[in-house]
Amino acid sequence: MTEGPLLRVRGLSKAFGGIRAVDACSLEVHAGTITGLIGPNGAGKSTLFNIVAGLYAPDEGEIWLGGRRIDGLPPHLVVAAGLMKTWQVPREFRNLPVLDNAILAARGHPGEGLVSLLLGPRAAMRHEAFLEEKARRTLGLVGLAELAEAPAGSLSGGQKKLLELARALMADPVLILLDEPMAGVNPVLAGRLMEIIDRLRREGHTFFLIEHDMEVVMSRCDRIIVMHEGRKIAEGLPLEVRTNPVVLDSYLGG
Ligand SMILES: Nc1ncnc2c1ncn2[C@@H]1O[C@H](COP(=O)(O)OP(=O)(O)OP(=O)(O)O)[C@@H](O)[C@H]1O
Ligand SMILES: [Mg+2]
Repeated sequence: MTEGPLLRVRGLSKAFGGIRAVDACSLEVHAGTITGLIGPNGAGKSTLFNIVAGLYAPDEGEIWLGGRRIDGLPPHLVVAAGLMKTWQVPREFRNLPVLDNAILAARGHPGEGLVSLLLGPRAAMRHEAFLEEKARRTLGLVGLAELAEAPAGSLSGGQKKLLELARALMADPVLILLDEPMAGVNPVLAGRLMEIIDRLRREGHTFFLIEHDMEVVMSRCDRIIVMHEGRKIAEGLPLEVRTNPVVLDSYLGG
């Protein structure tokens, strides 16, 4: 990895009709951190994530992952560059077992399709076994090992979020974007999800996280970026952000 921030966004803008959803945003995410992105409804947080993940083309600006410029790349090449984004609403294959959902997440990874072609059938089978082993290990990491054989559609909302995280991890990303991972998740599972994210960060993973729960954001994030009406209005350590008058005024409400 090159020196400097893992993710660097410069002068990013995106308008929908007359709405400047993201307005000249510049920000950085450093490797090995949980960086929080907060702001009121409609601030442009999800739009910014969608641009970074290659789902929307920006009107202006640059996005760098490591030493590589990724703005303008289609989503699958952004994934190939090492950036994964989970969905605000989980998108599992309902009728397939949890295990297969995890395996497919790795298989969907660009390059996977070449494996059997390049390696031949015997090695491809070994690779298959490797993927299953990796999927079981990853499900264990998020506490879903016991549900590996259950149809993904039978999971609770919170368990589906855990599966989303496992699916993201299967692609060995360098950066994971989480858009409100705890929304609609019961407090017990939400707490577990946050503990897992914390543990993964200690193991070297990097997270960029949109979250409305201020207690979670303040206690778990290394740095926080605040958006309001498309613009970045503040950033810093949790304590700095919490006491920033501009933030108090426009978001935290005093
Ligand atoms: N695909 C779209 N087409 C038109 N307008 C959009 C689109 N996506 C977002 N917007 C608008 O852009 C602005 C920013 O929306 P965005 O979803 O990024 O906000 P957010 O910060 O994620 O809000 P929330 O906290 O409610 O999820 C809003 O005014 C929204 O209505
Ligand atoms: Mg959003």
